[in-house]
Amino acid sequence: MTQPATIIRPEQPDDVPFIRRVLIESFDTPLEADLVEGLRDDGTLEVSLVAEADGRVVGHIAFSPVSVGGNDLRGVGLAPLAVLPTHRGRGIGGRLIEAGLEVCIARGVGFVVVLGEPGIYGRFGFTRASDAGLTNVYGVDDPFMVREVRPNGLRGVTGLVRFDRRFDVFDDLANE
Ligand SMILES: CC(C)(COP(=O)(O)OP(=O)(O)OC[C@H]1O[C@@H](n2cnc3c(N)ncnc32)[C@H](O)[C@@H]1OP(=O)(O)O)[C@@H](O)C(=O)NCCC(=O)NCCS
Repeated sequence: MTQPATIIRPEQPDDVPFIRRVLIESFDTPLEADLVEGLRDDGTLEVSLVAEADGRVVGHIAFSPVSVGGNDLRGVGLAPLAVLPTHRGRGIGGRLIEAGLEVCIARGVGFVVVLGEPGIYGRFGFTRASDAGLTNVYGVDDPFMVREVRPNGLRGVTGLVRFDRRFDVFDDLANE
């Protein structure tokens, strides 16, 4: 059976409650849904795309600025990424990542970091961030990955990467 067409597009104001639903259904707690709303309220949701199938929001990806060693170096963090359980395994997550990276490139972003499964992000050019001299506060190595998206976008960028302060709630969980 042919799958309905899925489009990837920037979020619109009407999408907000549906993005929340995707995030609530995709994660164990409402923290990710609250995170995205907090970033949006603060104006730090640098890139926010949805996947729409049959007129419904079925997936979402967000990017927000990160700092390295306390400096703003035009890097962003990819988080969160979610696809409704009913729509997984059809390539929608991958399309959200690809489209998100394209928007980052168009906006002049230098690099993107992500904390996730190497099995998901490795195919999109993400490599272990510690190999590039980047550290994190989550006590992980392989799952913390980076991808340069502008030539030399990572030049001179080494040190501790911090996501937006809205992510601090996850630091606390990691350190429990
Ligand atoms: C992760 C998620 C967004 C993937 O969405 P999706 O639409 O199913 O992704 P795709 O169909 O594009 O699959 C991408 C590839 O990643 C793989 N993949 C998906 N989840 C994976 C996981 N947890 N570990 C390793 N690989 C995974 C898929 O098998 C697929 O590989 P394949 O094409 O060889 O089969 C979705 O499973 C989800 O929302 N999960 C819950 C929230 C979450 O964990 N978000 C990611 C935080 S890092």
